[in-house]
Amino acid sequence: MFITLEGPEGSGKSSQIEMLGDYLRRQGFTILVTREPGGTPIGDQIRDCVHDVGNANMTPQTEMLLYSASRAQLVAEVIRPALAAGQIVLCDRFYDSTIAYQGYGRGLNLDDLYTITRFATGGLKPDLTLLLDIAVEKGLSRRADNGLEMNRLDLETVSFHQRVRQGYQKMAAQEPERWVVVDAGRPLAEVQAELHQVVEKYLAIR
Ligand code: TMP
Repeated sequence: MFITLEGPEGSGKSSQIEMLGDYLRRQGFTILVTREPGGTPIGDQIRDCVHDVGNANMTPQTEMLLYSASRAQLVAEVIRPALAAGQIVLCDRFYDSTIAYQGYGRGLNLDDLYTITRFATGGLKPDLTLLLDIAVEKGLSRRADNGLEMNRLDLETVSFHQRVRQGYQKMAAQEPERWVVVDAGRPLAEVQAELHQVVEKYLAIR
């Protein structure tokens, strides 16, 4: 089973996914936690390049292709083998991030993005996607308060991040059988408790 976490900046995905992985392991499941961009040695090199604030002149097309290249490597090297071995894969961001950031945020053509995404992933789609939704200002100030690594995308305008958030909300509404929206503006433990409920319900149905 393939579960992804998505959300705007400062939604707490990275902490939540680690806690969720630990929780599911305690329930006896074999869990693999990974992230995008990165998750492989090649992907980590791409991550450094695409997030380097010195690369201010990177075009949206280059940016999109770099995220897709990292994804292609992660799918082939990590995700597909883990799924084939019967593991539950939890991934911090996947192609929905490309649609939200490079599509809704940067304004690249969505059909083009889906075509390149299919090429990169071989058509792999998450079974369940958890959207950790948070108001843009709150998310950005959380990131700044926590002193987290700043990347090129963090330097974008508030209106860019608002388009990203709205893009996520639209995708969740368009495909409700895959997406579950969780209010991430609440304390960490409350959000985590809701994630347990959502995932357990999903696993029980499956
Ligand atoms: P994060 O590891 O803190 O979530 O940062 C990843 C950043 O990369 C975040 O700003 C979103 C951005 N991103 C994209 O713009 N497109 C993508 O396809 C992915 C995977 C990430």
